[in-house]
Parts: sequence; C-alpha cells; structure tokens
Amino acid sequence: MELMKKIWQLARENRKKIVLPEGNEERTLLACKSIRDNGIAEIILVGNVEEIRNKAKEIGADIEGINIEDPETSDKTKKLAETFYELRKNKGMTLEKADKIVRDPLYFGTMLVKTGEVDGMVSGAIHTTGDLLRPGLQIVKTAPGVSVVSSFFIMQVPDCEYGQDGMLVFSDCAVNPNPNQDQLASIAVATAETAKNLCGLEPRVAMLSFSTMGSADHEMVDKVRNATNIVKEKRPDILIDGELQLDAAIVRKVADQKAPDSDVAGRANVLVFPDLQAGNIGYKLVQRFAKAEAIGPICQGFARPINDLSRGCSSEDIVNVVAVTVVQAQNCAK
Ligand code: ACO
Repeated sequence: MELMKKIWQLARENRKKIVLPEGNEERTLLACKSIRDNGIAEIILVGNVEEIRNKAKEIGADIEGINIEDPETSDKTKKLAETFYELRKNKGMTLEKADKIVRDPLYFGTMLVKTGEVDGMVSGAIHTTGDLLRPGLQIVKTAPGVSVVSSFFIMQVPDCEYGQDGMLVFSDCAVNPNPNQDQLASIAVATAETAKNLCGLEPRVAMLSFSTMGSADHEMVDKVRNATNIVKEKRPDILIDGELQLDAAIVRKVADQKAPDSDVAGRANVLVFPDLQAGNIGYKLVQRFAKAEAIGPICQGFARPINDLSRGCSSEDIVNVVAVTVVQAQNCAK
C-alpha cells in the first residue's frame, strides 16, 4: 500500500527507539528482523533474556542485535519504580507496590516511554486494548493542549470516489466511550493533525450526527454542534463543519441540497463520530461491506506515542504499527 511505503520511508529518515513489551510473543519476535533490516526503528524487547532467545531460536526468528531488558534484573528497574511512585503517590501508590508494578512488562515499557529512555511503545498482540491503554493514560498522559487520548483508523476503500480517492480517517472508534463536547472537539483537532502529518491529507473534518445543520433537535446533536463551534473558535486554521449526516459529509449531491454553504460537506476526508458506539460500528460497516482496509486503531494524543495491536495481528502488522509509531514520535519531537 502506497501510504505505508511513505510511512516506512519517513520512519527510516529519523529512526526512533521503540519498546515492545511482549518480548516473548512469536509475531513480535518475527517482526524484529524486518524492523531491523529495513532500518525502521531501534527495538527494545522486554522479558527474560534466556526465554526470549530460546523462543526466537525455536521459531526461527532472527533477533541478532536487538536489545532486551528484563525488569527482574535491569539496572533501570529501581529508578523506574521510584519515578512511578512519585507520579502516583497521590493516588495511594507505595514504593513497595511500585516496585512490583514496574516489573510488569507493560508498566516497565510505559515507564521507559515516560522517562524518555525510548520514544514510543507498541503492544497488544496478547493484551487487550484496556490493559495497554491504562498504564499509558496513568503515566504518559496527554500531549500539551490535548484533553483526551483517542484513536483513529485510516480507511482505504477500494474503487471509491469519497474522501481522498477512497482514503478517509475515522475517529474515535476505539477509546472514549462517550466524549463530552470539549473532548469531542479535542478528538477532532487531533484527528485533523493526524490526517495532515501522517496521511499527507489536507484535512476536511466532518462532525457526524443524525442531523445536518439543524435538521433535528436533540441534546446529542447539540453536543456535536457545540464541539464543532469549539474547534472553529480555537483552531480557525482547521477546515471543519457540522453537524453533518454521513451522506451530507461525503456525497456532493446530498451536500449541495443539505449544506450548500459548507466547504466541508460533500468533500470530507476526516470523519469524527459522536461516540464510541457509532465509531466502532461505523468503521466495521465500511470494513466489511465496502471491503475496506482498516489500518488501526492507532492512538493519538499521548505525550509520547503508545500503540495498540489487534490480538489477531500478523508480524507484518506489527512492523507497520512500529513504523507509524516512529513517525508519531518524530512529530512529538517537533
Ligand atoms: N484520555 C486521557 N486520559 C484518560 C482517558 C482518555 N481517553 N481515559 C481515562 N483516562 C485517565 C483517567 O483520567 C485516569 O487518570 P488518573 O488515574 O491519573 O486519574 C486514568 O486514565 C485511568 O482511568 P480509568 O477510569 O481507571 O480507566 P478506564 O477504566 O476508564 O479505562 C479505557 C480507560 C481503557 C480507555 C476505557 O475507556 C476503555 O476501556 N475504552 C474502550 C476500549 C475498548 O474496549 N475499545 C473497543 C475495542 S477496540 C476495537 O474494536 C478496535
């Protein structure tokens, strides 16, 4: 896929350090060779060194030159536990508990991200989205000016005239169950930035609803309308409109009828859903009925990038998510 080639190229131009906490997981081990040979990232695996080397040997994974950190023996563990304790002591954390918690590979990896030892983390081949996100949300937290971590999918719809030749960015389809209007505005801004920085799109953001420009009245519609106005006020540089029904957002003929004065309606390439039920169902409908490729969920809004994998992912997917994470880390550093 063209976009992924571009992302690999960007990653290679300024390689970053990425931690993979599921160090003993087969697809993760198999991904290491491609990440290393293609110069995409410097990888740190987390886990017991002997176990990881044995597993790699058993499955024929080449992990030559890949760093491994074992939380049980690493000289970093003590310092990470102290820092974790400092960060969470007002939430009832004790030094003793912190020392135990940072030995969990996901927490160890997240703390490496927090302390800047690495630039990003990719995990989730065996853990759930919640397992991975919770330490990230507790420790790494959001980037300045961002109120919530959210997620996006890059949708590539074959033979499609909508979006940018069938490419659209959808958000939030995986993290925030029911964002309020300020959080929805923050999600829209983050997704516009993502569409620009990662996908090379000129973002045109549609704030989706079951109403178009006042055609229905309901508190759920008010939320979308208010979020749109917040973005318009705070970020006049972003081309955004709402509330829009899906057809008014992407179909020119419908937009001409329902929202003739909008610069976005009929031309949207970024779709922001009002809540997680709509977003999660929406991306799966497009993926299944339109046979679209859905790249994601990719997280946005963390102070440093942390990304989730699907538990059904392949080792190629892991390479791609690592490349995306490197590019996100490059943008964080700007
Ligand atoms: N952005 C920033 N911070 C957040 C967010 C957010 N979106 N959500 C929670 N937090 C913070 C909280 O403020 C809290 O901070 P604190 O401990 O410093 O006070 C911390 O994160 C933990 O919050 P909790 O309330 O304990 O976490 P919660 O149980 O709400 O879990 C999670 C957060 C995991 C993101 C939850 O909202 C969730 O499970 N979301 C849905 C995930 C999911 O199942 N997605 C669908 C499947 S994915 C797919 O189909 C592609």
